[in-house]
Amino acid sequence: MSQKKIFLVLVAITTVSFLLHHGGHLSWTIEVFRLGCPSLRSSFFQDSGAPRPRHTSVAFLKTHKTASTTVQNILFRFAERNNLTVALPVTSCDHQFCYPRLFSSHYVHPHTTPPDIITNHLRFSRSEVHRLMPNNTIYITILREPGAMFESLFSYYNQYCQSFKRVPNGSLEVFLDQPWSYYRAEEKDSMYARNTLTFDLGGDKDRPKADVANYAKRFAAEVERTFSLVMIAEYFDESLVLLRRLLSWELEDVLYVKLNMRLPSAKSSLSEQLTGKIRSWNAIDAVLYDHFNASLWRQLNAIGLACVAREVQLMKRAREQLVRGCFGGSMPQLRSAAQITNKDLRPWQPSAKVGIVGYDLPTNVTKRSSGLPQDMCLKLIMPEVQYTRLLLRSQSLRYRSRFPMRSSQMTMKLTGQHRVPSIIGATQRPSGALGRSTRGTLRFSQRSAISN
Ligand SMILES: *[C@@H]1O[C@H](CO)[C@@H](O)[C@H](O)[C@H]1NC(C)=O
Ligand SMILES: *[C@@H]1O[C@H](CO)[C@@H](O)[C@H](O)[C@H]1NC(C)=O
Ligand SMILES: *[C@@H]1O[C@H](CO)[C@@H](O)[C@H](O)[C@H]1NC(C)=O
Ligand SMILES: *[C@@H]1O[C@H](CO)[C@@H](O)[C@H](O)[C@H]1NC(C)=O
Ligand SMILES: *[C@@H]1O[C@H](CO)[C@@H](O)[C@H](O)[C@H]1NC(C)=O
Repeated sequence: MSQKKIFLVLVAITTVSFLLHHGGHLSWTIEVFRLGCPSLRSSFFQDSGAPRPRHTSVAFLKTHKTASTTVQNILFRFAERNNLTVALPVTSCDHQFCYPRLFSSHYVHPHTTPPDIITNHLRFSRSEVHRLMPNNTIYITILREPGAMFESLFSYYNQYCQSFKRVPNGSLEVFLDQPWSYYRAEEKDSMYARNTLTFDLGGDKDRPKADVANYAKRFAAEVERTFSLVMIAEYFDESLVLLRRLLSWELEDVLYVKLNMRLPSAKSSLSEQLTGKIRSWNAIDAVLYDHFNASLWRQLNAIGLACVAREVQLMKRAREQLVRGCFGGSMPQLRSAAQITNKDLRPWQPSAKVGIVGYDLPTNVTKRSSGLPQDMCLKLIMPEVQYTRLLLRSQSLRYRSRFPMRSSQMTMKLTGQHRVPSIIGATQRPSGALGRSTRGTLRFSQRSAISN
């Protein structure tokens, strides 16, 4: 080999290892160049040229049936990778913060405070979430087109929500012909049957008809004041482009696999007439959606649609690469819950009639040559109930390992013995109960685990 060749090989090796070790922020520089989108720069670099640190205080209001589980999974994984604390519900609230009750900071498990991130289902109370979260928290939520969303709610909660159960033949058309014959505003599960987005955001889903237009306008303005970004499920990847800029996150931080959905064959398409009826029954949600869909597109236009499209392409390619590496050469197959051998990966089923599909890892996944850690791949497709339980367990462990050092020193000073301080005994109980996630407790918690 000539000296020149050896030199080139050395340069190549050094470059590759440099990229591997500094992959995070260097990939940005490359990306900005490759995309040819100068407006990108300011989102990821400070004026000095140094990369902006990732923003880590995030409140994501998880709405129902809006692809929000996929966003939650992105946030869970981000939190784990960066040792952040995710506020999680006390066990008596299940994996939601006692939804549909209005959120209260009392619903937060003490081992998960002070939090950086909050993302589990809750009914939004601005003052209570503000009280809990750091004051530089960025608020985000997601909406979905009211027609598709209502069809999804109707199918998902068909056997659960009283307003839907009353409908003969479980027919959406029949419900929409005379919603007032089946809907009871005062029932505790009525929020799945009307203006669900408004309800989740803390609003009044049953505003009198005469006041709806006015109220919806005011409410949209209020939501806009609190939330820096309202994602739109129909434009999920485009919304992620905005999310990434808002938080100065890396491409790798927003890779995902779609979670908690029905098989495409189970979805029905809606006529224009039916969509119209859904919109007028969910009039406040419809106003919210149109308002925030318009504002999403204004923001995308401001970046430049060509730049957005290029970034979406880049994201898709990275996602495909990750998924291939994880699942042995090809995308994982969608499976019904019964077909999924790993219990940790079975999604919760609202009823026997609605097949929520999930994924199974190939059994040979550990022997993959990609070198991606199996844990990372598992988390990518882990349903929210299981992931929430797992996070609570790991955060409780971390909390107790931080606490005893201080408190046991204190106890030893006070008593001169190596005794476990009583406060530790007290904090051990809830997570001890968690550790024993036997079939029984699992079934119990999943029964009430109605969620997106
Ligand atoms: C997270 O914590 C672990 C264990 O304490 C540590 O090894 C790791 O470097 C931390 N990672 C980050 C990103 O802070
Ligand atoms: C955030 O809260 C802390 C403590 O309450 C306060 O000292 C600080 O000034 C606040 N920062 C901002 C930017 O409001
Ligand atoms: C329910 O379905 C049955 C059989 O398909 C039909 O005869 C009946 O009219 C339907 N009821 C309503 C209220 O649509
Ligand atoms: C969202 O807004 C864009 C831009 O105005 C529009 O083209 C699109 O049809 C809207 N999407 C829906 C589902 O209403
Ligand atoms: C894993 O198994 C599947 C089918 O059983 C096979 O197609 C795939 O090539 C295997 N992957 C590896 C990395 O061995």
